[in-house]
Amino acid sequence: MEAPSSSSSSQCSYEDYKETADWLKAHTEQRPKVAIICGSGLGGLADLLSDKTVVPYKDIPRFPISTVPGHAGQLVFGKLQGRECVCMQGRFHFYEGYNIHTVTYPVRVFFLLGVKTLIVTNAAGGLNGSYDVGDIMLIKDHINMPGFAGQNPLCGHNDERFGVRFPCMSDAYDLELRALAKQTAKEQGCNSFLQEGVYCMLAGPTYETIAECRLLQTLGADAVGMSTVPEVVAARHCGLRVLGLSLITNKVVADYDSNEKANHEEVLRTTQRRTQDIQRLVSHLITKI
Ligand SMILES: *[C@@H]1O[C@H](CO)[C@@H](O)[C@H](O)[C@H]1NC(C)=O
Repeated sequence: MEAPSSSSSSQCSYEDYKETADWLKAHTEQRPKVAIICGSGLGGLADLLSDKTVVPYKDIPRFPISTVPGHAGQLVFGKLQGRECVCMQGRFHFYEGYNIHTVTYPVRVFFLLGVKTLIVTNAAGGLNGSYDVGDIMLIKDHINMPGFAGQNPLCGHNDERFGVRFPCMSDAYDLELRALAKQTAKEQGCNSFLQEGVYCMLAGPTYETIAECRLLQTLGADAVGMSTVPEVVAARHCGLRVLGLSLITNKVVADYDSNEKANHEEVLRTTQRRTQDIQRLVSHLITKI
């Protein structure tokens, strides 16, 4: 009998990922242990790197290309506070029409490059009533809504060279890294706007309805967004340690009497306001990893 085709046909083979990783190894001598995925408007972090090697996605064999405004679409290798790292300036979103395996393609490439720790950042809507716009939420757990609907990057054939068939997710967001992040936030004066909570991913690209927001609040989610979870699932599968940061760029509308509306401009404005804080937090944190 043939293998089910819907997900396996869009899957990449170990050799595909390896071809990409080998090409990158030939293009830079840097061998970072930390990879950072920069969320909407947070790509400025990559500009802080010294001794940079910039590689546009379109030049990388088998790499997808990014379509969203505010996402540059390049890998930046370099040093952040003296520590080698690689930044993804621009990520791949499921709502752009990529299949879920493409969304997580870079993560397995990072693994084959020798990366051990993945830092993911995103812009998210605040569901928790005690959150303010501009808060930074340390992700302690996630709800994988697309996963519930069968869109999990690990669906299909499992290659043991990446990880086990049924990976654990209860420890997805590394306890030690979260403790380090809290300590760093204190040292950097970011403590007053640091939160810790549960991130829920929806496929997007529509923002949530009021009923959907209320549903997510009932489920125990503190923030909602359209990214991150697939990459974290793929990273945990191949044993990378994960730290996740959500910038709360807007408060979701959960009230039928409200005239507020979610919009992408507000998201980008808040991001600009907090860019420096996130950059300071991540760059000091990275020296402790
Ligand atoms: C919201 O965040 C606060 C502060 O982190 C937390 O104590 C609370 O449990 C969260 N959830 C709700 C539903 O308020």
